[in-house]
Amino acid sequence: MTPEHAFYSREGLLVEGYDSAQPDLGDVDFYRSLAQETGGPVLELACGTGRVLWPLAEAGFEIQGLDRSEAMLRRAEEKRGDHAEEVSARVRLKHGDMREFEFEERFGLIFIAWRSFQALLTSDDQHTALRCAHRHVRPGGKLALHVFDPLLEWCAAGEVDPPVSQDAVHPLPSGNQLEITVLQRTNDPLLQRLTERWRLREVDSGGKVLREEEEVLQMRWTYRWEMHYLFERCGFHIEAEYGGFDRSPPAYGREQIWVATR
Ligand SMILES: C[S@@+](CC[C@H](N)C(=O)[O-])C[C@H]1O[C@@H](n2cnc3c(N)ncnc32)[C@H](O)[C@@H]1O
Repeated sequence: MTPEHAFYSREGLLVEGYDSAQPDLGDVDFYRSLAQETGGPVLELACGTGRVLWPLAEAGFEIQGLDRSEAMLRRAEEKRGDHAEEVSARVRLKHGDMREFEFEERFGLIFIAWRSFQALLTSDDQHTALRCAHRHVRPGGKLALHVFDPLLEWCAAGEVDPPVSQDAVHPLPSGNQLEITVLQRTNDPLLQRLTERWRLREVDSGGKVLREEEEVLQMRWTYRWEMHYLFERCGFHIEAEYGGFDRSPPAYGREQIWVATR
């Protein structure tokens, strides 16, 4: 199953429901405290709708966001109106790819939140993105990123039962509900890649389905020691690795949260 377009790339239910569909990860406080340690400016790669970016601007940081989805960036841009002028003036948004970007300035902190790094589907792409990030971190600055730690029973070869934990109902800005169902999951352990087919439905208060869309999610999973070698290969020194945003130690099947210095 090859997707016709990248996840999050087109206008539709996935993008409209993005903000309300996010669990409270506790990651905003984490990135904010890293920014306090390093100072700005800050660069968020794959910033999406600005879920993390705007709170960092509110905390006083100059922040540049980059994303390859114009639809997601439009949502981030719309939030300017919710913020005071001096906060809005600290935020710049740019359409672009985290594998290939160029800014003149060098950043105290670069981060890639909410598993966005896993949208890079090959080891080469991941390497290219980290090398590019390395060029943009000022000496002594930090790179932080978050991926999931693969639970091997969900990564078995071929088709597996989709994780029902991802099925959910969330409010949409229209006042209707967004129903997400993962219809199918296929794993390719050779490429370390999962492919999921999602059905998204907008449902009104009477249970009537107003819209139905399908999206295909692809992600590459990475093992903990692979990440160690990847950071080293790209010129970073690992400062910390956590299993959760509460800075708990690494743990199998949870999150991988990495902080590396240049
Ligand atoms: C799960 S969302 C995360 C958005 C935001 N960082 C957050 O934490 O809410 C993943 C985002 O990664 C972006 N993305 C995926 N691949 C990308 C790439 N190669 N370059 C830039 N953005 C990318 C998508 O467009 C999407 O906005």
